[in-house]
Amino acid sequence: MISFNGSPKFDKDTTIIFITEEQLKSGAINELKWPSLTDEVRGLTGAKQFFAKKGEVFPLSCEKQIILLSGLGKESEVTNTSLRVAVREALVSNYCKTVSSIELLTLQHQQDDQSVIALIEGVLIGAYVWDKYKTKEADRIAKKDYFLVAPDKKIYRDAMSVCEGVNFTRDLVNDNADLVTSAFIEKTVKDLCQGQKNISFEILGSDELKSKGLNLIMAVNKGSDKEPRLIIVRYDGSTKKGYDLAVVGKGITFDAGGLNLKPTGHIETMRTDMAGTAAVTGVLKNCLALKPKKNILFVMAIAENAIGSCSYKPGDVYQGYSGATVEIANTDAEGRLILADALAYVNTNYKPKVIIDIATLTGACVIALGNDYTGLLSNNQELSKTLVEIAGKTDDRAWPLPLYTELRGRLDSTVADLKNISSQKGGGAIVGAYFLQQFIDQTPWAHLDIAGTAFSERSRMYFGPGATGAGVRLITEFIVTA
Ligand code: BES
Ligand code: MN
Ligand code: ZN
Repeated sequence: MISFNGSPKFDKDTTIIFITEEQLKSGAINELKWPSLTDEVRGLTGAKQFFAKKGEVFPLSCEKQIILLSGLGKESEVTNTSLRVAVREALVSNYCKTVSSIELLTLQHQQDDQSVIALIEGVLIGAYVWDKYKTKEADRIAKKDYFLVAPDKKIYRDAMSVCEGVNFTRDLVNDNADLVTSAFIEKTVKDLCQGQKNISFEILGSDELKSKGLNLIMAVNKGSDKEPRLIIVRYDGSTKKGYDLAVVGKGITFDAGGLNLKPTGHIETMRTDMAGTAAVTGVLKNCLALKPKKNILFVMAIAENAIGSCSYKPGDVYQGYSGATVEIANTDAEGRLILADALAYVNTNYKPKVIIDIATLTGACVIALGNDYTGLLSNNQELSKTLVEIAGKTDDRAWPLPLYTELRGRLDSTVADLKNISSQKGGGAIVGAYFLQQFIDQTPWAHLDIAGTAFSERSRMYFGPGATGAGVRLITEFIVTA
């Protein structure tokens, strides 16, 4: 929890002061009017112990509490990302391990809304740890109370709830594949919506999926002993007719690859292949908190891509909901299959004004963009531009990749209307997106490939090891502002 204080109190276990090199040199710390601190800092700079370089954290013992100085580097180097990183680094340092209350403050430094939000996210996203399965008390991080020296504003409280949505998503992604099944996700979503007005559901299980012809979702799930699901949560925040947006998430609860089995080195993290669906759940949670006046569909396409004699087979052809037949050239390109049915179903039956899908779709996207930018592919320039802007503002980063008609030949099949992978090498992320595009019409649509951004075994930027909640802040902000 974060509370806001208009001025520093210096009465918590620890106070963290974020300071630039310029502020350290100019003695800006005197502004705080905390006499013992001023002396300590004077001694410290005199002794050339602390220079406020980026990443430098220095503890001062001062009137029964620890004051941590956290260097931000040169004024010109400070960004909203580096602020988030500095907050995380200070909070995960040994000095904060056992304390239970922490005050955080900057020195008149960029007290604009975006930098205060950066501090909030540095705390709530940066200090997140996945320790559910750590049994030793010493290995678990105790809950702390945070006090931020900033005015109490609605946008800050909203930013805090968005972080809860992000961390909700991370918990779902991090947990076991055998726990987070389609039934578990369905229960989680229903619990989330319990007692909420403006919410209704359409949930398709095996029987409905089969009878309505969503055979691609059915096919992917064939090797699994669990049921597939298409969960549609209708959020009616406006009295206007029709849906402003559909957010569709890939929810492969485990991607073994199917008969095109994934090898060692690739299979170990595949419980995270439902990160798209988890992100949709996080955005739903955020919408329940922020109550935007829009009508939105939250769609989760859920299946397990398992291996067994019942698994769908390479070379077989299936006809999906759109009517198009698909040759299964590779059972490991399963995400696009379940999304094809989900996109076609939602587009046909609800005709939303805009569609955004989010998926851990391709390893190729990780090759193209690495782990810090989500791949963004769209049939609409304006939508793409808006999302890139919001990605920059929220620091939930995304970068565009091109979609173009010449890709069509890559999906030609000799036996079906199209096949699910290209036999030619290269451009895997855009081929995957191009496949999806075949299942929507002219509706403005954007595809977010979070294969590289949703999860990382080591910490990066201001994320600890594990799931990051990629796309949650981006889509939430899109809903709230665009
Ligand atoms: N879930 C994977 C993509 C993925 C890879 C996500 C790495 C996260 C990290 C997806 O279903 C997949 O297996 N894609 C294949 C596609 C190929 C068979 C065309 C891939 O990327 O190798
Ligand atoms: Mn796969
Ligand atoms: Zn997958």
